[in-house]
Amino acid sequence: MAESQELSTLRGHIFACTKSSERECLERMVFGTNKIYAEKINKVKAGDKLFLINVDSDKLYGPFAAATDGGFNLVPDAWKGKYPYQVKVENHDEEIKAIENAKKVLSKMAISWKESLDERKTKSLLSYLGAPLAFDWGPLAAERIRLKTNDKRDIEEEKPRLEATTHWDYPKQSYGKTPKGSNKYAGVTPAFIIYNLVQRYTEPGDLVLDPMAGSGTTLDVCKEEGRKCIVYDVVPTRPEIIQNDARKIPLPDKSVDLIFIDSPYGDNIRYNEHPANIGHISAESEELYDELEKVMSECHRVLKPGKVLGWLIGDQWVKKKFTPVGFKVHERLSKHFDTVDLICVVRRSQSSNTGIWYNRAIRFNFYLRGFKYLFIMRKPQDEASTQKKRKVAWKYYERVKKRQSE
Ligand SMILES: C[S@@+](CC[C@H](N)C(=O)[O-])C[C@H]1O[C@@H](n2cnc3c(N)ncnc32)[C@H](O)[C@@H]1O
Repeated sequence: MAESQELSTLRGHIFACTKSSERECLERMVFGTNKIYAEKINKVKAGDKLFLINVDSDKLYGPFAAATDGGFNLVPDAWKGKYPYQVKVENHDEEIKAIENAKKVLSKMAISWKESLDERKTKSLLSYLGAPLAFDWGPLAAERIRLKTNDKRDIEEEKPRLEATTHWDYPKQSYGKTPKGSNKYAGVTPAFIIYNLVQRYTEPGDLVLDPMAGSGTTLDVCKEEGRKCIVYDVVPTRPEIIQNDARKIPLPDKSVDLIFIDSPYGDNIRYNEHPANIGHISAESEELYDELEKVMSECHRVLKPGKVLGWLIGDQWVKKKFTPVGFKVHERLSKHFDTVDLICVVRRSQSSNTGIWYNRAIRFNFYLRGFKYLFIMRKPQDEASTQKKRKVAWKYYERVKKRQSE
């Protein structure tokens, strides 16, 4: 009985190291990772089986056991703070063995070192470590077939990818089993955008603000990712959304860790009839940018120095007139924030995504809006920091320097 209980809770996790970080892992008996795999650390519980893969030498070491639950900065000076998501490790006097050509062996076992291992995978790895030559590969062949048929379900449960480029393109508004916002709400934000910002720029427990929350996509993403979240809108669509005009945010100075806004960008969508709805103002009028700048100024006030604001906006083409709403909004944002980067988000689920609109665009020689801008802006640590000289080692800059001194 005791044994079957123990087996049913058997879980494993593989941590990665490199040539330069392996020694510190083994000497300090702590495994760590950076933000990219931070989610994995929350799943580690004291007593879980752990393995260490050196991605340079392609060797996997084990078994170890987690001496603690996964946590943040358990050994603050380990790897000079580079891998702060950590777990302390012990090995219960078991002999630590090594698997050569580890990536190939893991792939044959259908194990990804980036994911936590269930009981079956943990047992497989333990048994291979114990006696590689006697390992029975038979059951794993059946497992690979099962995995293929379950592909669709796995994809549905998957979290969005963390984006590495400035071009983001997702076919769906939401991800996972629970809805994020409502895709019946005109102008709903694709949830993966908020997921990416939350993962990149906040830690669990941080406070996220969305002053124009619409159907509450930001709230739902934050709930799932363990972030606190405050959401406002002039017309709340859910009880958790507080009624408020974004031009006056009822929060103290420097109190928020991340702000996300998907603001109206003209009067193209009729969100509601509230007189304070900025979505009643035309993108062709300077008034829109003046009102949005009041929101920006409030965001700047409540955001902690060094923290990030993500602002999603699109351009407008109406009745033969193009308005570069994105450029205009960025110009206003730049008065208050430094630009971290500019992302091109592909627009997919819009009403003009139809054959009729395609034909019109070709016949009357105009373009349909194919993307939105996501401006990632940072509130400077100190307002003078943007003026500080940057050290740039590119040849281009050296050539310019030479020419100047000639
Ligand atoms: C593009 S929608 C936001 C969509 C939302 N992110 C979602 O996923 O459902 C813009 C929202 O801004 C709100 N809004 C317009 N003017 C506002 C103001 N002055 N203060 C607060 N919210 C405002 C509108 O009511 C609308 O819900």
